[in-house]
Amino acid sequence: MLCISVKEFLLWKKKQLSKGGDNQSFAFLIECLGGISKSDLNFLGLNPENKLYLKKNLDHLESIWDDHLLNSSPIQYLCEMAFWRNLKLKVTNKVLIPRPETELIVDIVFKIFGKKSQKLFFAELGTGSGAISIALVLDYPSWEGIATDIDQDVLEIATENFINSSSQSNLSFYCGHWWNPLQSFKGKLDFAISNPPYIPADTYEKLPKEVKNFEPKIALIGGEDGLKHTREIIQKAPLFLKEKGWLILENHFDQGEKVKQLLLKNKFTSIEIVNDLSGIGRFTIGRYK
Ligand SMILES: C[S@@+](CC[C@H](N)C(=O)[O-])C[C@H]1O[C@@H](n2cnc3c(N)ncnc32)[C@H](O)[C@@H]1O
Repeated sequence: MLCISVKEFLLWKKKQLSKGGDNQSFAFLIECLGGISKSDLNFLGLNPENKLYLKKNLDHLESIWDDHLLNSSPIQYLCEMAFWRNLKLKVTNKVLIPRPETELIVDIVFKIFGKKSQKLFFAELGTGSGAISIALVLDYPSWEGIATDIDQDVLEIATENFINSSSQSNLSFYCGHWWNPLQSFKGKLDFAISNPPYIPADTYEKLPKEVKNFEPKIALIGGEDGLKHTREIIQKAPLFLKEKGWLILENHFDQGEKVKQLLLKNKFTSIEIVNDLSGIGRFTIGRYK
């Protein structure tokens, strides 16, 4: 712990922000590595004579901030942490930083199934940091989930995040290509959920460097038209879902109608494109017969 005066800290903060970057990323750094919450940071100026206790010294925090500014490194990777819904998750450059717009996918599940205490069995394909599955099993302790990913290193981070968030044992992790690890669960899932890689290959090339240079390519690109993985997930879903089981998918901002057509072609019913908070058709859901 480093003890400094608020006055000294505020001068240092002003210097850091004058180099560039945004207040939000700076507050994230100070919260994750300095141990000062965003709200405490906002009110520091009220008592400049007070003392402040920081978990890391200013030189260390400055070197991280400089790395963020000079190399466009995402602040979440530099701090190895992301906040998502009410979760605090470990992230490394092996896993996608869970996005705020994805948070709504959990509410879609809650809206479909309500606050009933029935026992449900679900799978998440491509779990990354584990965010979606962990949020689901924490809110519904009677549910049982299986979270998969193609990358064992990713699953190790997701498992660590689950252990750190919960003392429950209702989430298991399996490695493999989409449905492959779920062979023994054919016809048993009440619902399956996925935020698959869906960026078209040419769009990927134009992504900002903080995404392209740092986030795992395998988590982002969905083939030429972006729908390669979505297509495969939809085609095989009927084998794994129970009758009337739901498939809940996130898609790129302009893919809703195409995903809807894929679901129709594969005999799904009750299909709906659900908007995110910006009014974009970000999710497409359907029920197998
Ligand atoms: C867009 S990320 C979503 C991560 C996380 N669910 C989220 O919403 O933040 C897609 C995930 O799918 C995984 N993935 C990519 N190809 C896969 C495949 N063929 N089979 C299973 N998972 C795959 C990636 O490793 C990545 O973790």
